Amino acid sequence: MQSAREILEWYVEAGVDVMLEDVAINRFAESEASRQAGKRTKAFTEAKSEPKQARVPLETSAQSAHIPDAGSAETAREAANSAKDLEALRNIMSAFTGCNLKRTAKNTVFADGNPHSGVMFIGEAPGRDEDLQGLPFVGRAGQLLDRMLSAINLDREKAYITNVIPWRPPGNRTPTPQETEICRPFIERHIELVKPKVIILLGGSSAKTLLQTKDGIMRLRGKWSEVETPHSQTKAMPTLHPAYLLRQPAHKKLAWQDFLKVRQLLNELSG
Ligand code: URA
Repeated sequence: MQSAREILEWYVEAGVDVMLEDVAINRFAESEASRQAGKRTKAFTEAKSEPKQARVPLETSAQSAHIPDAGSAETAREAANSAKDLEALRNIMSAFTGCNLKRTAKNTVFADGNPHSGVMFIGEAPGRDEDLQGLPFVGRAGQLLDRMLSAINLDREKAYITNVIPWRPPGNRTPTPQETEICRPFIERHIELVKPKVIILLGGSSAKTLLQTKDGIMRLRGKWSEVETPHSQTKAMPTLHPAYLLRQPAHKKLAWQDFLKVRQLLNELSG
């Protein structure tokens, strides 16, 4: 028979990261209350039929889920900016509690590869294999990425690989805009500490977040852009995500064209 723990893990795996309360929460009342209280939610929630004494403050009722607010991104920014090197940034991110994704993730997936290589690949967020191993791009998409790197004479000794989001979203769901904003200071500081000569943005999510645009990846890919952080500006090539290429192999030729442009720039920089 399955243990309760295994069943709970199955739910988390499927993307259920918030427990139901004993008493139903009226989410409409909650959002109305939070609207009135401004962005920083300290709302009290109440089911329509609940007696008055059963009111539960959101912050204590939600022990199972951190409710991030504008303050979490600010806390992340201060923490990230205090990192003087990559090891400090890794430790700060591992200790950070302001993002709900961390609660269900098994590992903080920081990075892999060579930070001195001058080439930084940035994906979206870890998947199941990455979460288990604590390393980015080690699943099927990662194996394809390794083959793509090899095609332009790169490998994990000659490139550095990370993600915008360091914690696996449960069930591989798309990170919410709020989760992305909370994690943004970490990837921005990461870029500032690595100081790559060139960044390759893997997929629409990474490209949109770091180029601060709403344009889709098909419009962005293949064109040199700039990733700007508070203290740096780096040449960047947006391209298709390897996981997408596994589903749409006919589009590999587009990614190949983008990778050739990266190879050409690296040749110019080293030549
Ligand atoms: N997809 C990503 O964007 N990053 C990973 O690390 C793995 C899959």
